Amino acid sequence: MANICVVGVGYVGLVTGTCFADLGNKVVALDIVEKRVENLKKGILPIYEPGLKEVVERNVRAERLSFTSSYKEALKDVEFVFICVGTPEGVDGEADLQYVRMAAEAIAENMDHEMIVINKSTVPVGTGDWVASIIREKQAQDIPFAVVSCPEFLREGSALRDFFNPDRTVLGSTDKTAANKVAQLHLALRAPIVVTDLRTAEMIKYASNAFLATRISFINEIANICEALGADVKEVAQGMGYDKRIGHHFLESGVGYGGSCFPKDVKALAYMAQIHGTEPQLLQSVMEINLTQRRQIVLKLEDMLGTLKDKVIGMVGLAFKENTDDIRESPALDIAKMLHDRGAVVRGYDPVAMENVQRTTKYINLSEDPYELAQGSDALVIATPWNEFKSLDFDKIRSLMKQPIIVDGRNLYEPTRLTSLGFKYRGVGRGFKGAMLESNGK
Ligand code: UGA
Repeated sequence: MANICVVGVGYVGLVTGTCFADLGNKVVALDIVEKRVENLKKGILPIYEPGLKEVVERNVRAERLSFTSSYKEALKDVEFVFICVGTPEGVDGEADLQYVRMAAEAIAENMDHEMIVINKSTVPVGTGDWVASIIREKQAQDIPFAVVSCPEFLREGSALRDFFNPDRTVLGSTDKTAANKVAQLHLALRAPIVVTDLRTAEMIKYASNAFLATRISFINEIANICEALGADVKEVAQGMGYDKRIGHHFLESGVGYGGSCFPKDVKALAYMAQIHGTEPQLLQSVMEINLTQRRQIVLKLEDMLGTLKDKVIGMVGLAFKENTDDIRESPALDIAKMLHDRGAVVRGYDPVAMENVQRTTKYINLSEDPYELAQGSDALVIATPWNEFKSLDFDKIRSLMKQPIIVDGRNLYEPTRLTSLGFKYRGVGRGFKGAMLESNGK
């Protein structure tokens, strides 16, 4: 059992802290936002993540997990401090490190015994060294410490599964003893452990996210070519994926990637490259293709509806992906905004993200369920692939809609099925089927 402090109870911090507690460690999770801490003490979580609430409750009951906003209390007796604060996008696309700085300063000011500071936030290459220099500078007395980079690879919506079944653990440090201690902490997860220097570990995180984003933009480019040439990208991806060198993951074409990580991290990596004199040509294309995918949905609607002015369009799904209430950089919201700017009346429905949309977005009228959304709509856009959208009552939907038009931005449905039910249907990259079936529907 180790004594651990986690700084920041956002997505990464709460999941990391809770899961380490579940492995039998004693974890104090700290956040400077007192309201968040108060809520957590009452069992109210700041995020929606399947299964997380139960694991939090279990570990709070077992007194392995507690919450505080006091650094003094949180750092008492700890051996490991995880920095898990946000690194939002700065004005030029760089990562904004103000919260990392604040955490490093507070850790230094409250450090009264030796500890290992572990950086889990996604930070620009070189940040580990910078954190070490801040701590040295702000320490009240000269206490030994080490900084280790341990990037996270959790996906929203499957974060618990990803935590307990990682593909690998990456540890970066020049202090081998510290890296070994952090490795011990991860041994229960039985995954390969890659130990490297700080900067390389930080780069592994960016390169991994950028590579996954590149796969998505690649398959989206192929989708557009498929559409032009009459091939079906879903089958193309399946056929490619059986090649072990390629694999099936992250080859789903659609509205492009969103969320709090890929858009920000690809941009930040491109920014780092540029300020160090390297031209990130591929990363630029990845970002451009990603924006194009969102515009394509609007173009398809214009093609099918003529003008969008005063047309009622229902966004089916608003979160950036399924199983989360996160709407940061959500393609659904971006598409909704483009439709709104073209004079359409935009409606939306999402199983869990509606509260977040209501708080932040003015241009989407929220519906109670997919059927209310369909009532009187000229078109529906499938924007988030939630399971509950897979088996809708399409006869009912068609009868409720003003025009039976579906633009399936997630390729959730089989084109033949939807057109046989009387819809005019367009997916992404399903060239031959899409083109043929649409003309049947006309
Ligand atoms: C991503 C990475 O997958 C995690 O490994 C990483 O830890 C995390 O970022 C992070 O840096 O914190 P996440 O953003 O939660 O995780 O979600 P993903 O499942 O990776 O999806 C990202 C976006 O790509 C979503 O909008 C999703 O709909 C889209 N996507 C994903 C596709 O369009 N096609 C695919 O084939 C896969």
